[in-house]
Amino acid sequence: MGRIPEEVVRKVIESSDIVDIISEYVNLKKSGRGYMGVCPFHNDKGPSLSVSQDKQVFHCFGCGAAGNVVGFIMKIRNLDYKDAIIYLAERLGIDVTYTETKDKNSQIKERLYKANLEAARFYYANLQNSSFAKKYLENRGISTKVINRFGLGYSLNEWDALIKFLKSKGFTIDELILAGLAVKSEKGVYDRFRNRIMFPIMDIKGRVIAFGGRVCDDSKPKYLNTSETPVFEKGKNLYGLNYVVKNKLPNNIVIVEGYMDCIKLHQFGLNNVVASLGTALTSEQSKLIKRYVRDVYICYDSDAAGQAATLRGLELLESVDLNVKVITIPMGKDPDEFVNLYGIDEFKNLMNSAIYITDYRIMKAKEGKDIKNPLEKSKFVNEVIEIISKLKDSTAIQHYAELLSNETGLNINVIIDKINKLNLNVDKKNNNLNLRHNIKGNIYNIIPAYKKAECLLLSLSLHNDKLFDYIFSRMSEDDFITSVYKKAAGIIYSKKTNKIEITENELLMNFHDKDDIQDITRIIYNELDYSEDLYKMAEDAIKTIKKYQLEEKINDVKNKIKIYEENNQIKESLALMQELVNLQKELSLL
Ligand code: UTP
Ligand code: MN
Repeated sequence: MGRIPEEVVRKVIESSDIVDIISEYVNLKKSGRGYMGVCPFHNDKGPSLSVSQDKQVFHCFGCGAAGNVVGFIMKIRNLDYKDAIIYLAERLGIDVTYTETKDKNSQIKERLYKANLEAARFYYANLQNSSFAKKYLENRGISTKVINRFGLGYSLNEWDALIKFLKSKGFTIDELILAGLAVKSEKGVYDRFRNRIMFPIMDIKGRVIAFGGRVCDDSKPKYLNTSETPVFEKGKNLYGLNYVVKNKLPNNIVIVEGYMDCIKLHQFGLNNVVASLGTALTSEQSKLIKRYVRDVYICYDSDAAGQAATLRGLELLESVDLNVKVITIPMGKDPDEFVNLYGIDEFKNLMNSAIYITDYRIMKAKEGKDIKNPLEKSKFVNEVIEIISKLKDSTAIQHYAELLSNETGLNINVIIDKINKLNLNVDKKNNNLNLRHNIKGNIYNIIPAYKKAECLLLSLSLHNDKLFDYIFSRMSEDDFITSVYKKAAGIIYSKKTNKIEITENELLMNFHDKDDIQDITRIIYNELDYSEDLYKMAEDAIKTIKKYQLEEKINDVKNKIKIYEENNQIKESLALMQELVNLQKELSLL
């Protein structure tokens, strides 16, 4: 996929209204010249989010989140710059695809998407006309609404019904075989799916990429699925995910095994359910989920979650730092059967009593073991220690070590020792120990004084040509310390010296990283108080920056002197002493 041209990006940004977009996620109230609401990026109840319609930017006074409309979409939907532009463009009906080079490969894919879509329409129409198939779904308690929403269908009990239909639509046999809709044998080509209830599988963009088909009786195989095709790579999609992330993102996602489980839970109003379709989760699927949520529930058939293959899938979810909880359904039921019998509220109760994956593993380790028997107890302890030692977070390790100690009467220090021994070989773990929980914390970063000063200087330069001249006569872009501000200074300088008007939103378009967009938006949001002496403000800010640079240099020189002295390199050390004195003098004159 190529780059989106600047004109298209500009058009997308200019056609989107930040107040409309943010209103889809936050309840905004008019306040003065702008809007206020509860910030979705940190835990808050008060209205700390400010949205400016004039400037088309947002800013949170609580956590410092800031950006233009693209920055907001990037943050809230976890998209990169390009995908955020595409997301906004699609909503506005602006075509971004024409810019992409259409090579042979993507032409073929386009054809397969179309063939699959036509097939889905055909199956859907068949279902509408088949009282037999409709009866089957009715007996399973599937509502018309869900049939329509998920586009369920029926493949006729004939050898070539779909082939005939798609040929009439202009598709070739080769295309149908490539799409996995038709199968070739010695006897000829025939429809892959016959006499089955059809579940179209869609990608995140809602394109039909494959099908699952269920028999309407007890024959085997129960489900037939499209094998790999150029548009359907197994393990890269999740059934239902396109519906889950269509509008507002959910707080968490529930992963079930089957098509039926997924659509049934949706029918009962749980609109955050996806199905993994009977296979172990892959790392691609885990990353896909992580784009949208941090918390997942896994709800597999009673015992499936305990099976080795499934546990590996759960490890993948954990390895991308998702918080995983396991929902256990009693009596060997699957989610579909369970809600049919007991209703959705009981299912929600199960969700509430879901346990963290580590607790789940420990529970599994205990199952069938008699802790009073010393041999079994020792086996249990070793298994649990193995589980605990894989954790990355030291607080969690401590927590589970204490639980194990309480449960077995074993001394906590003995347990910790054993864990440390196991971890000795994996010392990279220690590097991760604290990283994990700081990810969300960085939004509370305190902004250093020099960075605030840089932000102010850029704001002044942007707003007033005279101040721009003054500031850039006192310093150059190279004097900016923060790299994003250095880049912004360069852009402002080259535009202004070439007498090209540069607007704030124009400046923003040069930055494609979430955090950079945030820093640039701070420039825009810098409310200047015109009653103050702006030249003095500029001068103070320049001083702050110069002071910081000098202090850094001084520290650097001091460190070097220390090293020279330790090595008895007296001559070198003395030379640096002189430099140190000069620097300190310079600093005192500021
Ligand atoms: P299940 O056997 O649990 O089926 O397989 P289910 O989803 O409960 O379906 P119903 O309720 O009997 O209709 C779980 C998932 O495993 C895959 C399917 O994706 C299914 O939804 N599967 C199962 C297959 O791909 N092929 C099969 O033959 C069986
Ligand atoms: Mn089932």
